[in-house]
Amino acid sequence: MYYTKIDRERCIACGLCQLIAPDIYEYDENGIAYTKKDNNTGTYPLAKEDTLPFKKAYRSCPTGAIMRSDTPFS
Ligand code: F3S
Repeated sequence: MYYTKIDRERCIACGLCQLIAPDIYEYDENGIAYTKKDNNTGTYPLAKEDTLPFKKAYRSCPTGAIMRSDTPFS
């Protein structure tokens, strides 16, 4: 089980994560990403079908702003 959230301080609004995993990530009005389903709390477990897009996005983020955990973020 994966949980993810964005370190919004590190996000440079490159847009890759939303392009690669539109079911998981969204941008705010400044282009800074957040997780859609849990409003960037990192408490909603990723669906099985989201695992591959998540991994691709995680590897693609140029600043390492995408965070991951096996347990919910607190
Ligand atoms: Fe930001 Fe990285 Fe996504 S820079 S827009 S979190 S790919």
